[in-house]
Amino acid sequence: MAQRTKVTIPYLREKRAQGKPITMLTAYDFPIADIEEEIGIDIILCGDSLGMTVYGFSGTTPVTMELMIPHSAAVKRAAPNSFVIGDMPFMSYQASNELAVLNAGRFLQESGVDGVKLEGGEEMAERVRAISRAGISVMGHIGLTPQSVSALGGFKARGRDATGALKLINDARILEESGAFSILLEAIPSEIGQIITERAGIPIIGIGAGPHTDGQVLVVHDALGFFKGHKAKFVKQYCNLNDIIRNALQEYKKDVENKGYPAAEHDYGIDPVVLQEIKSKLK
Ligand code: KIV
Repeated sequence: MAQRTKVTIPYLREKRAQGKPITMLTAYDFPIADIEEEIGIDIILCGDSLGMTVYGFSGTTPVTMELMIPHSAAVKRAAPNSFVIGDMPFMSYQASNELAVLNAGRFLQESGVDGVKLEGGEEMAERVRAISRAGISVMGHIGLTPQSVSALGGFKARGRDATGALKLINDARILEESGAFSILLEAIPSEIGQIITERAGIPIIGIGAGPHTDGQVLVVHDALGFFKGHKAKFVKQYCNLNDIIRNALQEYKKDVENKGYPAAEHDYGIDPVVLQEIKSKLK
């Protein structure tokens, strides 16, 4: 396979300028990130969605820095050339600029990621400014922001009325002015995704934000059919990993029960003379 170019912010800006779609996926561990690196995914997000996809929580609020750091580090080890983003978990940045900078810094120092992402619009502009002034690349995330679903009334699309849509458009402008290198739009009408993308000077990535954004992201467990929870309207499932894994494991179980596994080819073997010697020495 050809040597990959290291993905940087200028590279992402150039893709946007050329109208070439930016590819982004989540990954939470080495094996999946390794495949994403191999196929040339531009941005890999170690998302706090791991709270649901990997840890079985019903949302993202229980996720902590202590969970995120080792997963992000494993992803970055597998993907030296993709632009890897660590997702700042709930309460790792909301309380103060100082806390936000310290935790964003931990992601870079302890996981080796290339940047961080945080949720929120105008109300988080100060945090975005503080983190980017500390020299850390930060992606904004507006629209459906899972860390505040209980305050916002559930996992519903945003920006479907004039007030909501105008707030999103304004939030995107303020995040960009505050130093965000990119913005992720989640679960909003494609028309609003288009307006935000056309008005922006930075790469805009969508998840359920229509086809006009500069790039697309999916939660990898949704794309692979490896998650039994709620499936959002915008998800496209590319295979059914649940079925593939279930069938394989059922076959293993049957094999063990029927003594079909292990077979001769799985045996290390031993020289019969050595075996005879061992047996002769047994009392
Ligand atoms: O945590 C996550 O997986 C996200 C998605 C919206 C991509 O933020």
